[in-house]
Amino acid sequence: MPEESPYANVVLIGFMGSGKTQTGRSLSQRLGLRFTDTDALIETRAGKAIRRIFEEDGEEAFRVLERSVILEAAGETGQVIATGGGVPANPDNMVTLKRSGCVVWLQASPESVWERVREGQERPLLAVEDPQGRIRELLRIREPFYAQAHLAVDTSGKSVPEVAGEIIELLRAYHS
Ligand code: S3P
Repeated sequence: MPEESPYANVVLIGFMGSGKTQTGRSLSQRLGLRFTDTDALIETRAGKAIRRIFEEDGEEAFRVLERSVILEAAGETGQVIATGGGVPANPDNMVTLKRSGCVVWLQASPESVWERVREGQERPLLAVEDPQGRIRELLRIREPFYAQAHLAVDTSGKSVPEVAGEIIELLRAYHS
């Protein structure tokens, strides 16, 4: 039996490699909600991988597509929404998402982000000479945006089921 959820949407934000997709999937099963991944939706709408959108159309075009997908996802209810790491850096996206549900920030240290993303090739923003420096820099720039979430969970050293369980407890306390 899914655990009951009284919320329109639960929205996960946070840096690349903070576990938004995996945690979102687990949380959606436990809460009996649908799962929406905005990066996957962008790839469906564009008909190509995010890496190719960056290569062929540039980051600005990607952000325009991202904004339209955020509006689309926020227009529905009954979902856990996992977002791309750059979504909150557009203040309009945060306004839209905070109106559509409870926004939860998955916090991760630069070290744990690096551990989780170092094997992958699919993140164009980290395809640079010094990816660890880039992670620290982007985290510093983005933290004030992430901090506007309703709730925050530290994911460092925790498993996906642990993080999902903590979010469920926080949601209960927040709405009681
Ligand atoms: C991005 C994060 C990625 C993806 C794109 C840009 C970012 O999503 O949207 O590569 O700006 O931080 P994840 O956070 O799911 O890796």
